[in-house]
Amino acid sequence: MTRIAIFISGGGSNMVSLVDAMQSGEIDAEPVLVLANTADAGGLVKAQARGVATEVVDHRKYSDRASFEAEITRILSEYVPDVICLAGFMRVLTGEFTAKWEGRMLNIHPSLLPNYKGLNTHQRALDAGDAEAGVSVHLVTAELDDGPILGQRRVPVLPEDTAESLAARVLIEEHKLYPDVLRDFVKTL
Ligand code: GAR
Repeated sequence: MTRIAIFISGGGSNMVSLVDAMQSGEIDAEPVLVLANTADAGGLVKAQARGVATEVVDHRKYSDRASFEAEITRILSEYVPDVICLAGFMRVLTGEFTAKWEGRMLNIHPSLLPNYKGLNTHQRALDAGDAEAGVSVHLVTAELDDGPILGQRRVPVLPEDTAESLAARVLIEEHKLYPDVLRDFVKTL
């Protein structure tokens, strides 16, 4: 069965949607590792509660991205995933790391890419007066929030929206999109 590692930085709600879809048999894959770049990532306890192994590689303990990623690579060699899913992982990965995982690393980004790469996507959509916002899942390449798009979902922007209300509406779609995309993706491997 396809082995999946999920990288998180925070609450891990997307990670939970992926793990639950794998553990219910909806996705023909197995969550072998949840890795966070900070010990306070709330998703760690949610992963543990689901019986998924967790590891923390605190980026603040490494002098540069290369040594941070070398430790991640060492840990991955213990869990031997086939695919990495970035799920709210808020560290930029080097071209060296992304090249190693080319075609096997997915990311979820809370905008309709190619719009609004980077941070503050919802506020930027509001500032632009967009009628629609949404979420994208794409293959990770060396370029930030770039790479072939595997799926998107759209939501309306409402007149009374704040960045928070829009983020909450998009997040509901994130939790449907990422499992859908991963289910189809593992079938192609
Ligand atoms: C999600 O909205 C995800 O799309 C976003 O962070 C949130 C993580 O929430 N990712 C990015 O902004 C990546 N640049 P979660 O920890 O509850 O899944």
